[in-house]
Amino acid sequence: MPTHATPVPRHLAIIMDGNGRWAQKRHRPRIIGHRAGAQAVKRCVEFCLQQGIEALTLFAFSSENWNRPAEEVGGLMKLFLGALEREVDELHRLGARLRFIGERSRFDPAILARMDAAERLTAANVRLHLNIAASYGGRQDIAAAARSLAEDVAAGRLLPAQVDEAALGARIALADLPAPDLFIRTGGELRISNFLLWQLAYAELWFTDTLWPDVDGALLQHALDDYAGRERRFGLTSAQVRPAQPGSPA
Ligand code: IPE
Ligand code: IPE
Ligand code: MG
Repeated sequence: MPTHATPVPRHLAIIMDGNGRWAQKRHRPRIIGHRAGAQAVKRCVEFCLQQGIEALTLFAFSSENWNRPAEEVGGLMKLFLGALEREVDELHRLGARLRFIGERSRFDPAILARMDAAERLTAANVRLHLNIAASYGGRQDIAAAARSLAEDVAAGRLLPAQVDEAALGARIALADLPAPDLFIRTGGELRISNFLLWQLAYAELWFTDTLWPDVDGALLQHALDDYAGRERRFGLTSAQVRPAQPGSPA
């Protein structure tokens, strides 16, 4: 009999990859794949609400994705604006708190205004922290935290000797949430692609060839089941992290 309760991750972080290939397989333009991907986001949010997951962070658009062809970037921005217009009220009703991480200044004012409004509307919700990484890069995130530390040091608010993991960690995106426990990447690539570099230090990694638009609750459950069987040691030995077995030597 297992001696520990099946753990559900508190914080799930996902690289939603494979939209373009999903469309290409159907001989359709890439934007069709992104639209189908938006439907998969809804299934994923529903799954997290059902499972009692506290925080879901979705990589929607990377700082590097700005360099895609203008037509694709334009299509994605239109899709993003449409999703903000259509989905925020329902997410609010469901108790989701929406937050956007990434370089906001690069978005159009219309999108920016919707992002701000969504954050304000849902700020008091506690059922699910739903974080959308958009125009996000992990290196940029760390650089911004370093800049904030430098500003505090220059202003005399912080001593150089006080620059440590805790001080930087407090200035990184989503510092108020537990770090992601489980990282999922769909679409078959085995890389982090500049997602939450700092925050993923001890996340359990799970990869699948399934393309993001094909994701459903059953696949996510599979990831959670695998996660439940992992032993997270955080540098310790197995004996240190395992609860003592009845009858085993102390
Ligand atoms: C992920 O799907 C969505 C974004 C990066 C915006 P892709 O568009 O990267 O799809 P593939 O990897 O080309 O199939
Ligand atoms: C990562 O996917 C970014 C998002 C899913 C938003 P990419 O498709 O941009 O990553 P690479 O280029 O394959 O590393
Ligand atoms: Mg991709």
